[in-house]
Amino acid sequence: MYTLGIWDGHDSGAALIEDDRVVYAANEERFTKRKLEVKFPVNSINAALAYAKLKHTDIQEIAFTTTEISKTVERMLPHFKEQYYLFRRRKRERPRFENLLHKRKYLVTQLGILPFCNTISKSIVAGQLNRMGFKDYKLSIVEHHTAHAASAAFTSGFSKSLVITMDGLGDGLCGSVSTLENGKLERKISIGARDSIGIFFEQVTNILGMRELEDEGKVMAMACYSYPFSFEDNKLKDFFKVTGTSIRAKHGPLAQYDKLKNLAWQIPREQFAYMAQQLLENVLAKYVSNAIDRFNIHDVVFAGGIFANVKANMMARNLEHLHHWYVFPHMGDGGIALGSALYASHLRTGNTNFGFSAYLGDQYDENRTEQALRGERSLSYQKESIVDQASHAAELVKAGNYMMWFQGRMEYGPRALGNRSIISTSDSETVKEKLNVHVKKREWFQPFAPSILEEDVPKIMEYDDKGVDKFMTMGYMVREKMRESTKSVAHIDGSARPHMVGEENKPYSEMLKKVRKLSGYGMVLNTSFNLHGLPIVMTPEDAIAIMKATKTRYMFMDGMFITNKAGV
Ligand SMILES: [Fe+2]
Repeated sequence: MYTLGIWDGHDSGAALIEDDRVVYAANEERFTKRKLEVKFPVNSINAALAYAKLKHTDIQEIAFTTTEISKTVERMLPHFKEQYYLFRRRKRERPRFENLLHKRKYLVTQLGILPFCNTISKSIVAGQLNRMGFKDYKLSIVEHHTAHAASAAFTSGFSKSLVITMDGLGDGLCGSVSTLENGKLERKISIGARDSIGIFFEQVTNILGMRELEDEGKVMAMACYSYPFSFEDNKLKDFFKVTGTSIRAKHGPLAQYDKLKNLAWQIPREQFAYMAQQLLENVLAKYVSNAIDRFNIHDVVFAGGIFANVKANMMARNLEHLHHWYVFPHMGDGGIALGSALYASHLRTGNTNFGFSAYLGDQYDENRTEQALRGERSLSYQKESIVDQASHAAELVKAGNYMMWFQGRMEYGPRALGNRSIISTSDSETVKEKLNVHVKKREWFQPFAPSILEEDVPKIMEYDDKGVDKFMTMGYMVREKMRESTKSVAHIDGSARPHMVGEENKPYSEMLKKVRKLSGYGMVLNTSFNLHGLPIVMTPEDAIAIMKATKTRYMFMDGMFITNKAGV
């Protein structure tokens, strides 16, 4: 039986489950080329069906999520949603009443689900689905934080876990704690949107001149450039108070925004970022610690946008009484289409453990790749086996080149995990700068991250046995003696966000093994295959276009080695 999950808000998308296995999942941005797309996920839905060779009428259940008043109004008046998208992404002129717009947003979104919301949202979503050709299906609503919780709980592989969700807000809440025990996911605590540490961090991002809901990771990165100071001296330390398993914000979101603005006015921005990051880390670690104590469950799984913050995750991981952890790789709202499908499927079948990998998107066969390359006069190409390709790429890495690496199914979630990646050596500032100038154009304070062969991780990172991170969701400190070898993949404070690679990605792990033969350790710099501000590439045509636009010399694409004659 097939269950389709859909999400039609920030980072919209679709996911398809067959019985107890995730078959396909992707986000709409990859199709429309608008990062964190907000439109109804028509393309993702159709791609899911095409991948599984299904007709619309083969789908028995469709689950969607989030019916709070603001989302319901956006469904009724999609123009508002589009306007906010353009405003948030700085794609339109700065509105005259920007402050007022923010205040309206915080006021409305806190309201949650009002009585008529479910009916209206359901009827609008059903209308859109029916127009696409769906018929005779059950349409289910999954509450926002239940979708987040299900995404982590049912893909972690743990049979018993403490499930913690935290984000800006959704359906009137900013967080929840549930337990997964004896085959049941049970909500124990709900945290109201007024007390959202996610909104706090979103506001800090905005005040620092960056895009909320998108650039929070930059705040985290910038914080490392501040001189350190103790939490006692942190001017924001009283903004949140954790008591047991309750979090209380000192100010409501409206007053908080004004107070943060005033504070930021007086403080250098990296210090302001440091204060916010330090507060988040403290609040999160304390909260997770108290939740473990209260429920006496030591394996903890996380979802929600807050857990994109790998440094805060690291604080939680370092808790002594946390034994194992898992962060759902698509932790933000981009992951709740799958969360909804998982929850609906769980309710029907009782299953709590679904087959899941990060490689859930589209892939392309040799014909399609050759077709995309045909007529590209500036590119030359030749076929290569996995083994040859691995050696070839390793030699190019060793010689100080960066290259594009496009293989198999597109990754699900915000990170490139060796199927839509750009790779280079991990120990050269020069290559990193070249990559940044020609391709990535990231801000100077943003670090790159490494892919490391699983067995090499303990040699390079201060690794514990609490979890293997296949999805780049966790911060680790680099071992002191490895700082030179990780010059281009560690942050200024010596932390890094490693992608730990095993046999789940054969071509990529083969390449890393060859790199190890040449360099002594199986590690490369791995950054997402995209242009700054654009989504990660999906098709061979997307990849070729970026290769040409950035004058990148080399690309390995599904068994094809491509050279750009105009490459720099
Ligand atoms: Fe969320």
